[in-house]
Formats: sequence, structure tokens, C-alpha cells
Amino acid sequence: MVMSAAAATDSDVVTGVLKRVKTAGATPSDEVVSVKGWVRTVRKQKTLAFVEVNDGSSLSGIQCVMSFDSIDDDTRAEIDKLTTGCSVDVTGKIVESQGKQAVELSGTALRIVGECSGDSYPLAKKRHSLEYLRTLAHLRPRTNTIAAVARVRSVLAGSIHSFFQDQGFVYVQTPLITASDCEGAGEMFRVTTLDLDNVSKLPMAKDEDGKATDGVDYAEDFFAKPAYLTVSGQLGGETHACALGDIYTFGPTFRAENSQTTRHLAEFNMVEPEMAFADLTSAMDNAESMLKYTVGKALEKCGEDLTFFGNFYDKGLKEKLDNVVNKPFARVSYRDAIKYLQEEIAKDPSKWQFPDVEFGTDLSTEHERWLAESKFNSCVFVYNYPKSIKAFYMRDNEEDGGETVNAMDLLVPGVGELVGGSQREERLDVLVDKMKDCDLDPEDYWWYLDLRRYGSVPHAGYGLGFERLVCYVCGIENIREAIAFPRYPGHAEF
Ligand code: 4AD
Ligand code: MG
Repeated sequence: MVMSAAAATDSDVVTGVLKRVKTAGATPSDEVVSVKGWVRTVRKQKTLAFVEVNDGSSLSGIQCVMSFDSIDDDTRAEIDKLTTGCSVDVTGKIVESQGKQAVELSGTALRIVGECSGDSYPLAKKRHSLEYLRTLAHLRPRTNTIAAVARVRSVLAGSIHSFFQDQGFVYVQTPLITASDCEGAGEMFRVTTLDLDNVSKLPMAKDEDGKATDGVDYAEDFFAKPAYLTVSGQLGGETHACALGDIYTFGPTFRAENSQTTRHLAEFNMVEPEMAFADLTSAMDNAESMLKYTVGKALEKCGEDLTFFGNFYDKGLKEKLDNVVNKPFARVSYRDAIKYLQEEIAKDPSKWQFPDVEFGTDLSTEHERWLAESKFNSCVFVYNYPKSIKAFYMRDNEEDGGETVNAMDLLVPGVGELVGGSQREERLDVLVDKMKDCDLDPEDYWWYLDLRRYGSVPHAGYGLGFERLVCYVCGIENIREAIAFPRYPGHAEF
């Protein structure tokens, strides 16, 4: 944030109305400015000190060169107290650098804003494992990796909004508390105000004869019915697509899956566009354009951070991301994908954890990654999945022998499934039958069915796992680094 653009005078130094410069994009100038951030390293020599300050706006921060003959005694005393982690306010001019960085700060004054005890500061040492840093989720944004992830994540989020906004999609916030299980997978966190600390006092449901049963009486609970945290905003999103045309949601979703994988979180963010008068191909086209746009923006705006990720985490990162932008995504039917997998697995089944693959198999990560990484070496849409492994709301595909639905997953190298979507079943009678087949009570979904009763329209959409996108673009392996405070089984600290 620029505090004041007025030219600095000596008295400004004292009153603190100096223009504050962010290190990202700082350019040489005659103006005396202030840089505020956290000290990474201090090196003292006979006549000067080098103080590396990172203000979070860039990976490299700025080197502040404090020449002892141009600073006052107070500053000299402050420099003697400096340790890694101190927050500081440094005054001086941005000048061209003799060293490897483009610019540095030729400092005239330095004040410690907050001290940092070197003995106890957990980040005093330079290198820590990502696993260790997870135990310090409150401090890890001060490390290069996690700060870079946060910046790239922010650019991705902003570009997702601008992509949809530019195309006239309406941004809708769907509720986080819900009574319906969108994915029908039963992996929901319950929301209740019933006092679980007093189990013996819980209101119990009564049977027809008025006798207490084993089950809780949710009529007594806050919402007078069982309530949960949502697993997807899709059903709510459909109501608005079937009125506003094109909409998207972008918000938190929750899944109580007991999976300790590098790709699953219990709380993650999903981008869910929904388009009326649209089919599966429109959904795939939109997902492809959206990814090309957002990855393009990351390449444009996050050059320094992506170079860092390329050097330390994923050697071919830039080339991989350039390919996303420039190469058309592959598209393959589920049937063909199964055929390719069977041919490959037959060569050496022992190489596979799950060698049994046939029509109806729910692809596992190793299958998804082989398709994206080896078979197609690009992002690939797999479409027309078997009915039996997909959600109730997906449109039946008559053209395919009645065995498949108009669903698609986008698989990407390194991550596997990044997007899941479908054309929705817009025919009332077909949808009701599908619900019954999935043991869902159509009455619970009366409002969702109303969309099919009144002015029904073919529509389609998809969900993009935002943290998986962050992993992919940063070339980092574990989704627990892609979000500030990861939630997974046994972990809700911070
Ligand atoms: O494939 P999913 O389950 O699809 C839906 O929820 C649909 N209702 C979306 C829609 O059509 N509007 O989830 C969508 C994406 C997945 O492809 C994956 O990227 C991500 O959400 N995802 C997760 N990300 C992190 N942790 C988890 N536990 C995830 N589960 C799904
Ligand atoms: Mg899915």
C-alpha cells in the first residue's frame, strides 16, 4: 500500500510520512522511501551491514545496504540488535544493485518494529521440511515456499473471478449449511447445536407407539432437521443457472472422507460454474478455456515465484504450464480410456497397485495419472462414465447403450482429477427414477425437482478443486501446502 506519494523531506523521516515501497517491482529513484518487512539475514562487515528484508510482496525481498558512515547512532545500535525474524522499517533510496539482484536499498535509517528472539524463533534456521512447517502453519507464510504458494493462489483466485466475470457469469454464494447430500456419497460433517456433552439428555425420537427409540429427535435441533456442511454448491448453483443463465460459485466445501492422501482435504475450495442451455461439450470447452486463462495469468504475473517452484519443486514446470495454455486438451471416452489402460496393464500387471480394470471400474489415481502423464502427456478429459460410479444428477446418455452418463473428469499430470462435471438430468421422470435407484427420497429434493417441473432446460457445469489447481500450478506435491490451514483427519489446529 502506498501511504503517501508526496516527495520526502528530512522532517518526513522523523514524522514517518515516507512513501512505503513494496519490494515487488521497486525501481531506482531519488526519493527517500521506507521498506517494511521481516529480516531474513543480517551480515555485518567493518564499514557496513547487509540486511535482507522480505515484505511478502516478492520472493526475493530486498537487500538493504546500511553504510555505517551514512546512518545515525540509533540505527547503528538497532543493527547490533537485529536477528532473523525481526520486523523492521528501513529508510533509504532504491538504487541499482552491484550484486545479483536488480535493485537494493541504500539505507539511511533502520528501526526495529518488533524484536524476534533468535533462541526461540522456530524459523531461525534457513531450511525446514514441509512436514515440519505444517506444525507451524501460523509462521510458515514467512518461508519462501509458503509465501510463494499464497501469492500464486491469490492470482489464480483473482483470475478465476475475472474469467467468469468477463464472460458475464453471475457470482453466486451458495449456503455452507445444507440438508441435502449433493454427491450422495454420505461424507458429510454434521451441524448441530444438540449438547453432545450430555448424551443422556439428548432428545430421542419416538416410534409410532410413543416409545423412545435409539435415534436422536432432530426436530429438537437448531434447524428442526438433520443439517450438514455442504460437499458442493452445485444444487444451489443450478437454481440460479436456471434463472440467470450462466453462474459460478467459488467457496469452501467440506468432506468427511477419511483419506490421508496428498490430494484430499476435509475443507477445500471449489469453483463451480453452471450454464443453462448447455451440454457436456460446452462444460468441457468452458473448463478448458478457464484453465488456459488462469494458468496464463499465473505465468504472466507470478514469474519469479514460478521460476522458484521450477528450480526447487518441479523441473519442467514452466514448460508444463506453457503446454496447458498452448496445447488443446485431449478428450477420450471412458470406454477408450479403459481399453488403453487394459493394453498397458497387460504388459506388466505387477507394476500396478490396481491391475483389474474393466468397464465400471472407478479409476484410481495411478490410472488417472498414467492417462494424463504417459498416454496423453497433457490435460485430458475423460467423458461418458458408467452410470454406476457417478452421481444421481448426471444426465443419462441414450446414445451409449444406456450404460453411461454425460459426465466428465479432467485429469492432469501430477495431480490426477482436477475437475469433475456433467450435463445435468433435466427430465423430471428420469431424474426421479435415478434418485430412487440411489436410495434418495425425491421428496427431500422437491425444490431441485421443481427446476425440472417449471421451465426445465438442458444445463451443465463442473467443479474445479481449487487447492488441486494450486498444487498443479506450483508443482508442489501435497495439497496440505496449497491452503493456509489444512484440515484433514486428526488435524484442525490453528
Ligand atoms: O468430482 P467432485 O466430487 O464433483 C462435485 O462435487 C460436483 N458437484 C461438481 C459440479 O459438477 N459442480 O469434486 C469436484 C472437484 C474434484 O475434481 C477435485 O478436484 C476436488 O473437487 N475435490 C477435492 N479437493 C480436495 N480435497 C477433497 N477431499 C476433494 N474432493 C473433491
Ligand atoms: Mg469427481
